[in-house]
Amino acid sequence: MNDSIKKYLHDLIINSLKNLNIKFETLSIQITFPDSRFGDYATNIALILAKQVKRNPLELAGEIIVELQKLDKKECFEQIYELKGFINFRISKKFLFEKLNQILKQQNEYAKSDLGKKRTVLIEYFQNNVAKPPHVGHLRSAVIGDCLLRVFKFLGFNAISDTHVGDWGTQFGILIYAFKTIGDEEIIKKDPINELNRLYVAISNKIEEDSYLKEKGKAEFKKLELGDPENRKLWQWFVEVSLNDFERYRELLGLLPFDYNLGESFYEKLMFKVLEEFKQKGLIKQGETGELYIDLEKYKLGRCILVKSDGATTYHLRDFATYMYRKEEFDFYKNIYVVDARQSHHFKQLFKALELAGYPALQDSVHVSFGFMSLPEGPISTRKGNIVSLQKLIDEAENRSLEIIEEKNPELPNKQEVAKKVGLAAIKYFDLVHNRNSNFVFKWEKALSFEGNTGPYMQYTYARIHGILRKAKNLEIEEFGENLNLKESESDLLRKLMQFEQILEEVIKDYMPNYLCNYLFELSQYLNKFYQNVNVLKEKNKQILNFRLKLITATAQVIKNGLYLLGIDSPERM
Ligand code: ARG
Repeated sequence: MNDSIKKYLHDLIINSLKNLNIKFETLSIQITFPDSRFGDYATNIALILAKQVKRNPLELAGEIIVELQKLDKKECFEQIYELKGFINFRISKKFLFEKLNQILKQQNEYAKSDLGKKRTVLIEYFQNNVAKPPHVGHLRSAVIGDCLLRVFKFLGFNAISDTHVGDWGTQFGILIYAFKTIGDEEIIKKDPINELNRLYVAISNKIEEDSYLKEKGKAEFKKLELGDPENRKLWQWFVEVSLNDFERYRELLGLLPFDYNLGESFYEKLMFKVLEEFKQKGLIKQGETGELYIDLEKYKLGRCILVKSDGATTYHLRDFATYMYRKEEFDFYKNIYVVDARQSHHFKQLFKALELAGYPALQDSVHVSFGFMSLPEGPISTRKGNIVSLQKLIDEAENRSLEIIEEKNPELPNKQEVAKKVGLAAIKYFDLVHNRNSNFVFKWEKALSFEGNTGPYMQYTYARIHGILRKAKNLEIEEFGENLNLKESESDLLRKLMQFEQILEEVIKDYMPNYLCNYLFELSQYLNKFYQNVNVLKEKNKQILNFRLKLITATAQVIKNGLYLLGIDSPERM
């Protein structure tokens, strides 16, 4: 059986209800993991159905269980029983062994599924801004987005990535003005992004003293909008050097390649159409100073401004165009924005206004919001200059990892390469392990710790299994049969492995990468209990030895697949 257990269970329940002729209105079948003493899976359907059909839940559960047992024939579940109205299931040993072999056979493909049925999911993340160096603040969007992309792909969705680069707006007029007045092409060529950023900051400081300069910048932007060849060429140059830079960061961070880099400017030409459409639908009002807006007061969402009183188009308007373009071009099933929590009002307005215009945005679009990661020195802010560049963070992670490796395992070949992987794992995992809605402080000691729920610890757990397997190479083993007796720590570990498939489904249901981190950590805790209980290599019984080697190989495989989906490498030695 190659279906995930959850799918099998789901179908089993549906079929048993059909056979019993139980009529119900709507039913969403929830399958959860109960406390391991009570079983491997539990469902509350009897409790829910009992209300709908007005029957005693325990009686109903009893009937359903008889039918479930008939259908399953102990193929998958050795026990199905009722507890406080819940129906609990215990996976049979036969099935556990089948699954174990499936993991070993499918390897990197294990837990892949066609759940998504090729439906298109568009994920937007790592929205860098042209002419600005990416900083630590961009990291969260990048790693959360990359993880979601990987899991959606793995589960059979047609997942597409887009960066939605910030490449349009008055700031580019200001930058052009800065370049024309204080810029030097040769200096920029040597270190484009930092130099452009320096120019922008320098002129912004002057603007604070002399607001007339801002008008100059605005005028340059107007020219750019109208297609002035000189400004157009400068802007294109800024965009080009920036995109090269972002690509370098993408590789450095080990993110999957992006399918699209459709910047905000791309939607410029579509904005007029959007305005027309909103006008025709009677959604546009004109404000006291001439601005155009959509009134969302009724929904406690204020006004959504599309065109400012000076005629400038807004960030909102570009996002409307973006949605409509994506809808038409990709016919997406989900449209996902991985953007920090400060923009949640923006997205609420966007989705509501689209709904009023007849688009199903409240269902098909999601703002995957996240809180702030700050450094011990304080929040990461672009304005105050208190920014830690992404480059610096990555370099430091690598250096610190190298120090730890030098200390723990000085003989290790290719230390530098491993240090790079461990450093990245530390940063990414520390980000992903937090509930994305929370704010937290980045701490080196915590992120790089080889103990606890961290990236390096998960990598270490993986490498340690490979260490055992290397030593086991020449041991004699024998095939084992279904009658092999399992110790509790073995059975528990095996049962924990079975949960991987369902955890992935939950990650994309709630857009929560931390579920996967927590699962991997729990898995490693079961592995530790197993280690405490048995000495794998000293086992004399060749069948038991074989089983245990298979069990840890499968555990390593699930850790590797899990880390891959988090965007993290698993070196076999560290
Ligand atoms: N570039 C924007 C910023 O720096 C983030 C873009 C978010 N995506 C969107 N479709 N509005 O704030």
